[in-house]
Amino acid sequence: MEYYLGLDLGTGSMKTVLFDVNGKEISQSVIEYPLYQPHNGWSEQDPKDWYEAAVQTVKNVMEQSNVPKDQVKGLGISGQMMGAVMLDKNGKVLRRAILWNDGRTTESCEHVRQIVGDDLFMKYSCTPARPGLTAAKIQWVKDNQPDLYAEVAHILLPKDYLRYRLTGEYATEVSDASATQILDVPNRRWSDEIMSAMELNESMLGKVYESQEITGYVRPEVAEVMGITSKCAVVGGASDNSAAGVGTGIVTPGSAMTTIGTSGTVFAFSEKPVVDEHKSVYTFCMPVPGAWHFMGSVNSAGASLKWWRNNFYPNDEDYVEINKDALFSKPGANRLIYLPYLNGEQSPHFNLTCRGSFVGLAAIHTKADMTRAVMEGVTYALRDIMTGIRNTGIEPENVRMCGGGSKSPFWRQLMADIYNLPVALPDMNSENSAALGVAILAAVGTGAYQSVPQACDKIIKMRSEIYMPSQEKVAFYDKVYKEFDALYPKLKDNFKSILEL
Ligand code: XUL
Repeated sequence: MEYYLGLDLGTGSMKTVLFDVNGKEISQSVIEYPLYQPHNGWSEQDPKDWYEAAVQTVKNVMEQSNVPKDQVKGLGISGQMMGAVMLDKNGKVLRRAILWNDGRTTESCEHVRQIVGDDLFMKYSCTPARPGLTAAKIQWVKDNQPDLYAEVAHILLPKDYLRYRLTGEYATEVSDASATQILDVPNRRWSDEIMSAMELNESMLGKVYESQEITGYVRPEVAEVMGITSKCAVVGGASDNSAAGVGTGIVTPGSAMTTIGTSGTVFAFSEKPVVDEHKSVYTFCMPVPGAWHFMGSVNSAGASLKWWRNNFYPNDEDYVEINKDALFSKPGANRLIYLPYLNGEQSPHFNLTCRGSFVGLAAIHTKADMTRAVMEGVTYALRDIMTGIRNTGIEPENVRMCGGGSKSPFWRQLMADIYNLPVALPDMNSENSAALGVAILAAVGTGAYQSVPQACDKIIKMRSEIYMPSQEKVAFYDKVYKEFDALYPKLKDNFKSILEL
């Protein structure tokens, strides 16, 4: 039997899952690592921590599984998107990585917009300059740490740094590279014009592969520590969101999924690189040759609930009390609305200076109401993105759900009612969909399947339970959603001036 490893380099932890060729989970291991916030709103990690966690988790899954090491044919890495890892000419890390949820880049985003121009960004990256994407982070280092930037020889996305440590290759693949703003998304290669405006070149950014292509093999000395062999191929892999797209089978027109991890994403397949006229969702390459996807993310989705739990339910590791309380409150949380902008927001506002709020708080409200408001508020923010996706002409018939948030039956039903769509789940541990997605890419890349859609067709099965929207609740949540949507424009300037106090 052949086996494949899926490494999921998340914001909170590295999770490695070993799958057999039929997509059955054999073993898994998770190691957490620190997040550094040296200033308000900054978000950084040490790439060395990712590498050490990767080596240890692979070692753990191999030891737990007893699978013979020469039967592990390939591995794929799923990565947190939009970061920047900077290396010198010898491959040494020059500074901690700046992450996707870092809030320092408002000015550097304006600077890179002036340098490149939104016309070029729209033409190639299919979105205007956005502060959360990698180009603004590169510009920040250039503007604020010029001496350090002078030594930069390589700029990599988080998972591509891991690839470099595993294989020695400087490379990336189309899905993750889409969110750098430097990729020519329609043609799936670096944009010469954007690179030249930003004074970058291909040797700095690495070769771009399709996601299922083999980019190298695990170096013998690394393979030995991990308990695998140097014949283990490392395929392109994918951004975490598009890995979850593959892992939930979003490989045909009209299909859509939502994942709730630290952030939350709505994701839909597209046959063409169509640009969203309203500029509220991204058009990125799908990890399937000749296909694209729309996506948008809520920065603090699971992160909102985790913040709430850490402060008010510190002993509720499994969110059991939280789910009970949410159910105990009422739809609309007794007329309480939560805006989930704890850490700025991506789609559709693209604003690093907005912040979270409870609006409508009254003396009657209980902790349970506030808990429910947090979960509802995150879901209204996701609905903003679903609206953006619907505006591109896609009308999903249902939505597949994965990520940590999908473990909550309450959240599944809430999503069905707020999206007004049936919600379905993959028939597996739905937190592992991103790891499965990249393991599928590895299986395709090493020849076990002919294509990603064919592999998904064979491997991905859905649970029989479907969460259907209740029309009464749909009508009620529609009203609350309108109130939710009216709040951001009214509070936007105050969010900024409060930060300046
Ligand atoms: C992408 C996003 C996150 C990151 C981190 O828009 O916000 O999902 O990929 O996991």
